[in-house]
Amino acid sequence: MKAELIIYNIRKLYTSVEKAPVKGYSMSRIQMIPNAFIAVNDGKILEINSGDFKNYINFSTILIDANHKICLPGFIDSHTHLVHAGSREDEFEKLKKGVPYLDILNNGGGILGTVDKTRHATFDQLFSKAYKSLDTMLLFGVTTIEAKSGYGLCLETELKQLKVMYELNRKHPIDIISTYMGAHAIPKEYEHNKKTFIDKIKDDLVYIKSSNLTNLVDVFCETGVFNIDESRDILQKALELDFKIKLHADEIDPLGGAGLGVDLGATSVDHLMAISPKDIKALAQSNTIANILPGTSFYLNKAYANARSMIDQGCAVSISSDYNPGSCPTENFQLICQLAANQLKMSPEEILNAVTVNAAYHLGLSDKIGTLEKGKDADIILLDIPNLAYMFYHFGINHVTDVIKKGEVVVKNKVIQRGRK
Ligand code: NIG
Ligand code: FE
Repeated sequence: MKAELIIYNIRKLYTSVEKAPVKGYSMSRIQMIPNAFIAVNDGKILEINSGDFKNYINFSTILIDANHKICLPGFIDSHTHLVHAGSREDEFEKLKKGVPYLDILNNGGGILGTVDKTRHATFDQLFSKAYKSLDTMLLFGVTTIEAKSGYGLCLETELKQLKVMYELNRKHPIDIISTYMGAHAIPKEYEHNKKTFIDKIKDDLVYIKSSNLTNLVDVFCETGVFNIDESRDILQKALELDFKIKLHADEIDPLGGAGLGVDLGATSVDHLMAISPKDIKALAQSNTIANILPGTSFYLNKAYANARSMIDQGCAVSISSDYNPGSCPTENFQLICQLAANQLKMSPEEILNAVTVNAAYHLGLSDKIGTLEKGKDADIILLDIPNLAYMFYHFGINHVTDVIKKGEVVVKNKVIQRGRK
């Protein structure tokens, strides 16, 4: 078969060839093809190999010379709070002076400050701010993200956020998997009536399900937010309605959210800075992904999750940004990967598995993305570096020059090509 597009002259192509979830020491295994080419047809990968690609060319084939760059699968940022209004630089000053994140929240700021602004924002305001962030993510090599609601804490605004994500997914090259996170904080109007708020979320889940805007539910299981029993209550209702579930677990206090996630069959448990040794063991025995967010530890000046112990004990780890205005205000996904190297002590191979195949797995996308192999979506990035390890070493800058999403060139020489979608 002839290809519509061929990328050739690739110095080194790296991809996982492991079956997801990639656990423990298997995370060290990736494949490297030197002097590679990729042939693409109909948005999918037709062939990947070393050497001659003549057989795939006809008169209409577009040829892209990679100029000895390296090639990776598009990055998957599997935990973001993309859609929100406003910013919180005032709060950054308080955090630097040592005011705890949860104190700011419990005094009506933090997440609740963003809730106020998001409730008052129009659809178009939310759309354009998030669209701009997606552009930055794309330039850094991200081709798929997960994005959570949770800055409404009322059905109307949660639906507004989810609808914005739906439109962004239609109009921006990055694919968006949406998650409903109505249980992100307790809104002021329910401050003294948490039980009623939880019942309301459980009722709202029925509407959210029928809206078809998302198939995922996340809960912030944390001291002063939703405790273990409250989180279980909400998530069990979500499971009854056939949602898949995730948890913000053991971020600040070791409540046992990760263990709860394993018990309930969560697709991922996220953060895990304070996870107990017992729950690491439980995770290792499960197919729940440990989704670690080192940018949040960096920004909040907190301890990093113990990724080394998790991998060494056999867990499947993914790495994501947590992009949001209060605990990780950056869209630079390469910086997140560099923090995983520098602070979580993960190897280049482990990080590549974490941000591709394991991220795809917990978003339910394993059959489409996460590896460069025949039949999968042609989500491909080129980086102007000599080898994979170099990406983590030369930090803070953008090494990605070109991004191909489902076979279309959406970033060329660091410039976004408009017109797709
Ligand atoms: O994952 N921890 C809860 N939620 C986000 C932060 C949201 C915010 O501060 O606006 C997180 O870190
Ligand atoms: Fe988060």
